[in-house]
Amino acid sequence: MRICLIGFGAVGQGVAKAISLKKKDIKDKFNIDLKIVGVSDSSGSAINQEGLDEKLLLDIKSKTCKVSDYSEYGSTNIQGIELLDSVDYDCLIEATPTDVKTGEPAKSLTLKAFAGKKDVVTSNKGHLALFFNEIINKAKENDVEFRFEASVGGAMPIINFSKKTLPSSKIESIIGILNGTTNFILSRMTSEGSSYKDTLKESQILGIAETDPTQDVEGIDAACKTVILANSILGIDCVYDDIDIEGISNISSEAIELAKKEGYLIKLIAEVSKYNLKVAPRLVKKNSPYAVDGTLNMATLKIDLADKVTVVGKGAGSLETASAILTDLINIGKLKN
Ligand SMILES: NC(=O)c1ccc[n+]([C@@H]2O[C@H](COP(=O)([O-])OP(=O)(O)OC[C@H]3O[C@@H](n4cnc5c(N)ncnc54)[C@H](OP(=O)(O)O)[C@@H]3O)[C@@H](O)[C@H]2O)c1
Repeated sequence: MRICLIGFGAVGQGVAKAISLKKKDIKDKFNIDLKIVGVSDSSGSAINQEGLDEKLLLDIKSKTCKVSDYSEYGSTNIQGIELLDSVDYDCLIEATPTDVKTGEPAKSLTLKAFAGKKDVVTSNKGHLALFFNEIINKAKENDVEFRFEASVGGAMPIINFSKKTLPSSKIESIIGILNGTTNFILSRMTSEGSSYKDTLKESQILGIAETDPTQDVEGIDAACKTVILANSILGIDCVYDDIDIEGISNISSEAIELAKKEGYLIKLIAEVSKYNLKVAPRLVKKNSPYAVDGTLNMATLKIDLADKVTVVGKGAGSLETASAILTDLINIGKLKN
């Protein structure tokens, strides 16, 4: 499978590392030969139709920050979308930044790949939160595969789990913690009794919260994931504007302390059901499945035949997110073998 990888930040580099670590196993077990033939970041691209050396790519990116400094064969100024016309590939891995206002560049990259009859795997959320059905329909029209496990919950399996492991069940609701940064902040406020402001600062120093934390702390990231789960698992036709969103920036240490005394925790909870599409801080019982700490994500699925099933896992991280992308690649590869 010849891969074109657009976006070579935390996730893109995780993908290169995961492929380098796992490609022999994947070839042996599934007869799928993963080969990165083009990579692009905002500096330009590196291309080699015979396969780029993943370790060299990672080394160059860490030294110069530019994938276009890749020196063995073709480094080039070709920018993101033009790369799709410049390499022969089978699958696009799209890992550019999430943009919840326009969905770009992910939307254009994805539709261009579909039009060229290429499969796409993404970790991006913005284009899905805004144009989920349009994108799914374009994949169907072009008879190509489109997978997005990594876009919700990083390494926490939820989309493939729901579709492949529970195919006979009707999933009635999903309630969970879909943002690791806010879970870290609320967990620390609970264990340390610290203020929201100080804990956010600590999270930024630790590299858990971004310099501009708005997407996480105001619930925007969790709302994008709510849209993706609603459409892909519950079949609810909705977009980002349909979600009721409240973040955690108004949560005080006093509120957390009061909840604690009564045996509760405050968590940023996403709810996906036909009655509610909502992200908001909620009280959850200590010792319940929602009481996961740190940057963990979790989701409880309410299933018609089996009541509740809960999944937990690392919601972010370079290699962790790449593991979900590899799952999608292998599932696509199996279909083509
Ligand atoms: N990080 C996680 O743990 C995680 C988990 C799940 C999902 N996601 C999602 O995965 C996506 C990637 O996340 P990330 O953490 O890897 O982001 P990131 O570290 O900011 O990396 C983004 C990459 O995209 C490149 N880029 C930006 N605009 C581009 C363009 N027009 N054409 C080609 N490349 C472009 C950047 O280039 P430069 O390197 O030159 O800046 C960078 O390499 C995001 O949508 C994010 O929401 C991330």
